[in-house]
Parts: sequence; C-alpha cells; structure tokens
Amino acid sequence: MKKYLTTPIYYVNGEPHIGSAYTTLAVDTLARYWRQKIGPENVLFLTGTDENSQKTVEAAAKENMEPGAYLDMMADKWKQTFQSIGVSFDDFIRTTEPRHHQTVQTIIQTILDTGDIYKGTYKGKYCVGCESFKKESDLTEDGLCPDHMKAPKELEEENYFFRLSKYEQKLKDFYLANPNWLQPETRKNEIVSFLEGGLDDISVSRESAELGIPMPNDPNHKIYVWFDALINYYTAINTDEKRDFWQGAEHILGKDISRFHCVIWPAMLMSAGIDLPQSEFVHGFFTVNGQKMGKSLGNVIHPLELAESNGNDCLRVGLLSSFEFGNDGDFSREKYDHFYDTKLAGGVGNLFHRVITLIHKFLDSKKPIGGMADTETPEWNDFCQHIEAKKMKHAIDMFFGLVDNTNQILNDTEVWKLAKTDLSEAEKVFAKLLQKLEIILQMSHILLPETAPKMKTLLGDEDRVGEPLILFPRREV
Ligand code: MSP
Repeated sequence: MKKYLTTPIYYVNGEPHIGSAYTTLAVDTLARYWRQKIGPENVLFLTGTDENSQKTVEAAAKENMEPGAYLDMMADKWKQTFQSIGVSFDDFIRTTEPRHHQTVQTIIQTILDTGDIYKGTYKGKYCVGCESFKKESDLTEDGLCPDHMKAPKELEEENYFFRLSKYEQKLKDFYLANPNWLQPETRKNEIVSFLEGGLDDISVSRESAELGIPMPNDPNHKIYVWFDALINYYTAINTDEKRDFWQGAEHILGKDISRFHCVIWPAMLMSAGIDLPQSEFVHGFFTVNGQKMGKSLGNVIHPLELAESNGNDCLRVGLLSSFEFGNDGDFSREKYDHFYDTKLAGGVGNLFHRVITLIHKFLDSKKPIGGMADTETPEWNDFCQHIEAKKMKHAIDMFFGLVDNTNQILNDTEVWKLAKTDLSEAEKVFAKLLQKLEIILQMSHILLPETAPKMKTLLGDEDRVGEPLILFPRREV
C-alpha cells in the first residue's frame, strides 16, 4: 500500500500565515500517522510553492527585486517556516523547477494531441488575486471580486482553450460511480450541482503573462498558472522510482480551490489519459475572532509567532482541535492560550509529571509489573479510525479524554495515600497508569511529535521510569 499526501502549493507573494499552516499541519499529521502504520518508505508527503503567477511579478516589483531572486527568497522562507513548525514533508516542489516544466510540457502536449486544446479569443474579466477568470455572477453588486474586493481587469486576448465542456458528462458519471472520492459529502454535493449548471471551455494560456511555462506548440503563450500548478502533483512522482505512489494519491485542499481540483484537474487527467488520484478532501476556512483574515484588516496571524509562544505541538493541536476538519470555524488567541494552559500544561503535562514523580517517591523509580501497554488497545483502534476518516478533532478530543480519564484514576484511587498503607495495591494502580501513559505516548507520536520523545524518556526503559521533567512549562502571563 502507498500513500501520497499533498497540500495545495502556496502563492509566494506573501508570507505563510496560519491558514496555510493549518492545511499543512493537517496533512503532516496524516503523514505521520501513515508512516507509523504502513512504514515511512510507503508514504510520500508533498508541499511546495506556486510561483508562475502574475502576483509574484507584482510583489517582486514592490520589493524592487527581479522575479527570480524574489522567488528564491520567498520559496526559502516558506520552506523554512514549514520546517521550523515541524512539518515533515518528503518533497518540497517549486513550479519554477525544470522537473516541473518538463512534466507540464509533456502533459500539455498529450492534451494537445488529443485535440482538447484549441485557439480562440478571450474577452472578459480576470482577477489577479484569484488568478482566475470571472463571470458577472461571481462578482459583488459593485462588480468586485468578493475575495479580494478589487475590480477584475478587463482582458481581450488570443488564448488557447481547453475543451472542459467535453468532460461534463464524464465528470458527472465519475461522481456517480465514485460517491466517496470527494469528501466531505457536502463538498461533493456542491461540485455535483456545479456540474449540473454546465461547463464552459476555459482559457489555458496567457499571451501577456510575464512568468510562466511556454505552451509547447506556441512559445509566445504562457500556460495559465492554474493549469500548470495542478500538474505539480504529478511532477513530484513522475520518476520511475516514484510513479507507483500515484495510485495512493490524496489531495487535501481548502474550499476556496475546490472547483480547480474537483472539476478542472480530473478533466485534465482524463484528457491526458492518466488515472485520477485516489481521493480528495476539501476542508473549511477559519476566521480570526469571527472575522475573515486579511492584510487589510490587520489580523493576519503568523504561525511562527504562535509556535514561539506555546510551542509547535500547541500550534498543531490548537489549530486542528478548534473545529472539525472539513467544517468552517473560528480561531482566537485567547482560546489558543486557554488550550495550552488547560489541555497541555494542566492536562497531559501535569499527568506525566505527577505519575513519574510518584513512582520515584514510592517505588524508587522502579516500574511495577505489567506497566507496558499492548499496542492494539481499543483506544488506539478508535484513534486510528478517526484519523483515517480525517476526523482530526475527534482524534484529538479522544486523546484528551484519555488524559482526563487517567488523571481521574489518579485522583479517585488517591494512590499517594494508598502507597503508604498498601504498597502492593498501589503498584497495581501505578501499572495501570503507566499502561495509559504508553497509549498516550503512542498517539503523541502523531499529535504531539515534538513532545513524544520527551514522554518516551519519562517512561524510561523496561525496569525504571526516567527523571521527572516538565513537558509544557506554565506560560508567563
Ligand atoms: N496556489 C493556489 C493553489 C494551487 S494548488 C495546485 C492557492 N494558493 S494559496 O496560497 O492561496 O493557498 C490556498 C490554500 O491555503 C487554501 O486552499 C487553504 O488550504 C489554505 N488557507 C488559506 N487561508 C485559509 C484559512 N483562513 N483557513 C483555512 N485554510 C486556509 O490557492
């Protein structure tokens, strides 16, 4: 079995914010799970940057930089940010790399050969912010793009068009035959009803674009950035050693880009004669304190800032537990700090500290018999089911439920009193507590990957527990 997990590739005209960190940490969590389940050699986790965009040219000009130098600087920033928040990607793709240009040109050539690309004239509106063509019905009453609150540019130019309309029925048939391919169900229904509205052919080249991959048949035309960007998922496995990862491909993306991934990309693959990925999952968006996040509102939150104050593991589980993956939800700094104080410092951190300290005190750090856990416990099996269904919040909630129950065992048995009157009964309680901590550790390799090695040190070897240490220090307020 192979798992090939992808995030969208990100535009580099701005710095990473918690929206991009959210998707990337979600996929990272899935990748860590699958590596544990099927072995790291069978998992490929891809993320990267979408660089052939007009936005890049504009952002570079603002910084008085050449686009190439700007792209190198920004791609590095994205890569480093992801590394520093603990994202364990196996490959980081940039759409300006030669490997991508080659794959794009080969695939576009195949689509040209099937006759699905023709020349025509495009007249209409284009939003550079979205890098997409807009119909009147997509705009606000004042004629603005609702996402960027800017009037789209009027364009009239000769373009190459992709016969998307030819794939309307094929896509409808595909969704009917593969009802679980796109999750969650609500997102699938949106796409199916979009298909019901009919598909128009789309423009896939830009004569005026400054950056981009040339059309193989006409180098004066640059391939439309989305047509090139989607192909990144295929580029990364387009080698003899990696091609069999394609059968296990799962794309994970935000709801803002579902039509590109769930209509245009499958049609492109059908035209090129390539199998569709195994599945797609569309997640929701979060607002910050009830407001859409944006530069103009001044409420953009940087992941590094959040990670610096409460640690990488808090960033991951704090974001992923705010609301179920797939739904929309809200995030606030207050909730985030409260989560750290109650669930991490006061919950799991406190639990490990109490148990290990008590074992030092009453058993001279020696482990009681039966303190190791079976790895196939019902708790673990439930946890696996949640993660495999991408119900990350469910998995995190059950993890903290287990922490609370274990703390409860400690409180109910008052083992610190029991140890003074009946040490052999107390040993049984300690054995049970250690078993629970082992299960918590097993889940922490996935949910709290930076804390898990410290937990492992605390749990010690077969004979003794480790020296007590604080997993989540109290925040200074
Ligand atoms: N470059 C395209 C994607 C090409 S994929 C072949 C693009 N890039 S983007 O930088 O705008 O990133 C979009 C993705 O960032 C969203 O699909 C989503 O995964 C993530 N998010 C951005 N803001 C977000 C929120 N406020 N909430 C959740 N996810 C967010 O579109």
